[in-house]
Amino acid sequence: MHAYIHLDQERFLDWLTACLAETDLAGIREAVALFQREVKVLPVNGAEEGSGLSFRQDVLLEELQQVAESRTLRRARYYLERLRRSVVEVRTGEVNDINLNRWKEYDDVLTDSLWLMERRDTSGAHGAWYWGNFVPQIPHQLLLRYTRAGDWVLDPFVGSGTTLIECRRLGRNGVGLELNPEVAARATDAVMQEPNPMDVVTDIVVGDSTSLDFAATLAGYGVERVHFALLHPPYHDIINFDGGPRDLSNAPTVDDFLSQFSQVVARTLALLEPGRYFAVVIGDKYQAGAWIPLGFYTMQAVMAQGATLKSIVVKNFEKTKAKRAQEALWRYRALVGGFYLFKHEYIFLFQA
Ligand SMILES: C[S@@+](CC[C@H](N)C(=O)[O-])C[C@H]1O[C@@H](n2cnc3c(N)ncnc32)[C@H](O)[C@@H]1O
Repeated sequence: MHAYIHLDQERFLDWLTACLAETDLAGIREAVALFQREVKVLPVNGAEEGSGLSFRQDVLLEELQQVAESRTLRRARYYLERLRRSVVEVRTGEVNDINLNRWKEYDDVLTDSLWLMERRDTSGAHGAWYWGNFVPQIPHQLLLRYTRAGDWVLDPFVGSGTTLIECRRLGRNGVGLELNPEVAARATDAVMQEPNPMDVVTDIVVGDSTSLDFAATLAGYGVERVHFALLHPPYHDIINFDGGPRDLSNAPTVDDFLSQFSQVVARTLALLEPGRYFAVVIGDKYQAGAWIPLGFYTMQAVMAQGATLKSIVVKNFEKTKAKRAQEALWRYRALVGGFYLFKHEYIFLFQA
């Protein structure tokens, strides 16, 4: 957990004004050194004081150090001015709540295309009861970057409700669709266990995402468009989700799977606010001795509908106990069969 300190905003701004008024670098350095000492001993993670100005201690110290190490008065003033802006002005992007004037405080938000996650987040209502759920860190990261508080999120393959739990945590309204009524009921129970501090809507509807009237469901909430969608379909028949003929995991062929998946994409795109983002999480499969690139097939199916591909993220599979037990055997099979073992899946990010 990061250490946050609280400052009196007025005093801090006065201090910055005084620094900016200094006419030589030595004066600024002296003032900064004194202030750095003060910041280092302030109590961390305490209750907020009146002005509500909080800073991540390490980030503020780094900013101050940058001022202190400036080689010219002009540069020092530039950094001080930037620090002042980070206090008096909030600058967010169009699709999230990240304050770009305090961007250094968001180092938990990923920006690289390789996600190595060793441990599944099992906090709160997140459980491991559903075989085929993704790690909560996937929706968590995507919601932080592509949604704002109060936005509407659609998950057409809701499964155990991982995305909706994250929606509640982050204050996003979430609507999920699930074909299997038993899974939907269990997911609803689980998701509702998660506290809802921002009083958002969470709903799981039982139905087939290739044909269900999403628009009517949303209209029930007075909503016409969603702001983000997260699609985590079955990886064709790798796991059978037992939902009957409309279940994508029961599609007789890869082409059938892609055709059903494309229908869900079309329906999702029809509801997504133009310019907003959506993501598809999927892995590849092996069939009759050949690697079937389901990931790239689904990616192309989405692009064929006019969405812009923004990123391809590769994420490692975390090792489950069962996988660990069979690791040696699979390694042997890979050596014999001349193939590589799946250790990754994809997160394809698109903009509508
Ligand atoms: C990979 S799982 C999603 C897991 C989910 N992200 C989680 O973390 O629990 C895919 C889900 O899609 C559901 N599904 C399959 N075909 C469907 C369809 N036509 N409409 C709606 N849901 C479907 C399956 O029952 C399964 O729960």
